[in-house]
Amino acid sequence: MKASNRSGISPFYVMEVMKSAAMRQLQVGDVLHLEVGQPSTPAPRLALEAAAVALESDRLGYTEAVGIPALRSRIARLYAQRHGLEIDPSRVVVTVGASGGFTLAILACFDAGDRVAMTEPGYAAYRNIMDALGVEVVPITVGPDTGFNLSIEQLEESMPLDGVVVASPSNPTGTVLADDEMRRLAGFCQSADLRLISDEIYHGITFGDAGVCALAYDDEAVVVQSFSKYQSMTGWRVGWTVVPDNLFGPVERLAQNLYISAPAISQHAALGSLEADAELNAHVARYRVNRDLVMSSLSAMGIQRVAPPDGAFYVWADVGHLGIDSAELCRRWLDDVGVAVTPGVDFDRTAGDRHVRFSYSESTADIEEACSRLETWMSRFA
Ligand SMILES: Cc1ncc(COP(=O)(O)O)c(C=O)c1O
Repeated sequence: MKASNRSGISPFYVMEVMKSAAMRQLQVGDVLHLEVGQPSTPAPRLALEAAAVALESDRLGYTEAVGIPALRSRIARLYAQRHGLEIDPSRVVVTVGASGGFTLAILACFDAGDRVAMTEPGYAAYRNIMDALGVEVVPITVGPDTGFNLSIEQLEESMPLDGVVVASPSNPTGTVLADDEMRRLAGFCQSADLRLISDEIYHGITFGDAGVCALAYDDEAVVVQSFSKYQSMTGWRVGWTVVPDNLFGPVERLAQNLYISAPAISQHAALGSLEADAELNAHVARYRVNRDLVMSSLSAMGIQRVAPPDGAFYVWADVGHLGIDSAELCRRWLDDVGVAVTPGVDFDRTAGDRHVRFSYSESTADIEEACSRLETWMSRFA
């Protein structure tokens, strides 16, 4: 019997790298992980305590499809605290990670055949989900000449469009849209009647400009968010979206039918995590130290063409001058010195073979050791 054509999407290649790294770890036991896009820390203590209380006291059945009211209200308050924005809790929908939120957003906003722009490089799963849903992905190449962010001119050239997906800070580039850039982007989307989907999952992990919320400039934007990154809760599978009033009904119906509700225990833990900034900001301080280590090491290795790493925990680097395909380079780094790095192919279908993504979310000791091994490898390669 047949499998659907729509499921014939690209794999998420980083998972393959993770498999090879796990194999090497079993056989040699020396792997340092600069491939994984997740915090190396567990959920914050206040999240674990809230989960423990819920285990004892709550039935932990299905919740409302849009999430428990206390969490929705607390998330709404976060927008007042972080961005000075008044968001009504009725616009907040708790989701199964940003991944679940993004799928709801795409289903609620677009039909098959609609054209939606996203950056290249950009987050692979988003492109693949839109492919599976028959939404036409319109890639917009960003690089050093555009400050690694998409420009209004590029959007104008790509018209007609029905929507735009942006992530700031971005995966894989770590770049942040400045306030002014977001304002212009939002203004363009409104004037051209495009739905703006703003992935703000790395908010909280920034080293300069904190990153503006799209809702500051576009009330019709859909914000996709998650507890996975800043709150260090990837495995709890909980996130949220903020949707305009007229999309709430569609998103609620989709959530009810797609997965009923996000995991109850994770929602309770998520509520606790929203009071844990002191613990979480210590992680961000470590990411900053790690970023500086990676940047000076890359410079020592002669890898100079990198996107400005202003947020998230990634460095996107052009390794084209080495004259070796990035997948092969990453294979050699893993085989020769036990350092796992992600080749660019997931994120960029055209120039991925000359880029790699370093993730620096592990301990500083691991990052130091990884940099030293890579520097030794590069001194032999040169
Ligand atoms: C830009 C971006 N959006 C969404 C996700 C998915 O996150 P979640 O764990 O919340 O589903 C990731 C995960 O790496 C990401 O980097």
